[in-house]
Amino acid sequence: VADEALREAARLVREVPDFPEPGVLFRDISPMLANGPALNAVVSALGRDFDFDVVAGVEARGFLVGAAVAHAFGTGVIGLRKPGKLPVVADRIEYSLEYGRATLELPAETLRPGQRVLVVDDVLATGGTLGAACRLVRQAGADVAAAAVVLELTALEGRDKILGEKVRALLQV
Ligand code: PRP
Repeated sequence: VADEALREAARLVREVPDFPEPGVLFRDISPMLANGPALNAVVSALGRDFDFDVVAGVEARGFLVGAAVAHAFGTGVIGLRKPGKLPVVADRIEYSLEYGRATLELPAETLRPGQRVLVVDDVLATGGTLGAACRLVRQAGADVAAAAVVLELTALEGRDKILGEKVRALLQV
């Protein structure tokens, strides 16, 4: 972790044993996001030095972080949504998860071809979600400036699913 404010923020990540199933240690960033100085440090660090025109946040926790980053850097924000939520879908992508398949959808009249997008989510685990989000952005004719997450679970090697994109993770466990 690069700076002192982020180190302080990292202390607010709560470890929850046996969630969502026995044997899994869940890292809950909710207490960190609930703390003003911590959220500020996280938001600044996610967007720093990247050139982007708009932020795309992934449902659901990526919305919280993504909207905060967009506001801090003066851009708009787009929510990449799970299926069945949007009235008008511009584009969608299906992807594999460890068990089964998932879909992300891009709302109509949000992203313009050629825009540089910062893709934001809370956690990078297997990489399926973040990889799909980046592909959806590119499929719509926009560019991925970078993909930025608060927390990366390195043992799951999710970065291997996002080869070719710049990936920033503020905390790694
Ligand atoms: C979590 C997390 C990421 C994704 C990471 O979302 O917020 O979006 O999983 O996992 P992956 O790298 O293995 O794809 P979840 O599906 O739990 O949805 P939520 O944010 O709506 O709770």
